[in-house]
Amino acid sequence: MPSLIDNINLAKLPLHVAIIMDGNGRWAKARGLDRSAGHVEGVNTVRKITEIASELGIGYLTLYAFSTENWNRPQEEVDALMHLIVIAIERETPDLIKNNVRLTMIGDFSRMPEEAYRRLCRCKEETARGTGLTLCLALSYSSRWEITDACRRIAIDTANGLLQADNISDETISNYLTTAGIPDPDLLIRTGGDKRVSNFLLWQIAYAEIFVTDTFWPDFDKDAFCRAIIEYQSRERRFGLTSEQLK
Ligand code: IPE
Ligand code: IPE
Ligand code: MG
Repeated sequence: MPSLIDNINLAKLPLHVAIIMDGNGRWAKARGLDRSAGHVEGVNTVRKITEIASELGIGYLTLYAFSTENWNRPQEEVDALMHLIVIAIERETPDLIKNNVRLTMIGDFSRMPEEAYRRLCRCKEETARGTGLTLCLALSYSSRWEITDACRRIAIDTANGLLQADNISDETISNYLTTAGIPDPDLLIRTGGDKRVSNFLLWQIAYAEIFVTDTFWPDFDKDAFCRAIIEYQSRERRFGLTSEQLK
């Protein structure tokens, strides 16, 4: 266990941590390796960060693994990533079960290769009884796709009389998103140094604390994760109120 764990206030943990896992390609390039070597190493980081989140008792960990826009990458890289997902899910399922982790996923799965989607669904079923950490993989995901899809379904349900336009609240909208039932992220981490959200959980991160680190995802480790939590715990979350009102 890394020593930084001792500096974390377990009574003030974020319930939901979301991560934009970026920098695999640059990590590989810096070593003269193929981009896919960075993705392979990135999977090891996923295992480590899932472990520490689970050990700490965090409720939800959402990982941005593949965006809608990432489908436009070179076919070779897309194929390598999809293959990696199949292998990783297959390999990690027993440990997820052992660690009481429940897997779920969000995204537009109509675009996923059937094999990858089937393995994910099987892992989801096999881990369904997990009562510890919920690990949510965002795959073939983009927030604008998700919001557009929610609007379409809200329009259909309104036309069919299942919803009344006057009653549509922000809670209604949350319930039509792929993250329905999952609390909004408290902490959003981005590795790789870029200060942008790249179409990730735009609605859900309305009040998330943002932590950006230059560390590339393959180098991000348990200590780095603890550092993000410690920084999060030092922030004053005001939700639009004044500091005095919070006291
Ligand atoms: C993040 O790493 C992983 C995915 C987007 C699938 P990148 O592949 O984007 O790595 P960089 O940003 O090019 O270094
Ligand atoms: C964001 O990384 C998507 C994932 C981490 C899956 P990108 O590398 O695709 O984002 P941009 O292109 O830097 O915005
Ligand atoms: Mg990137």
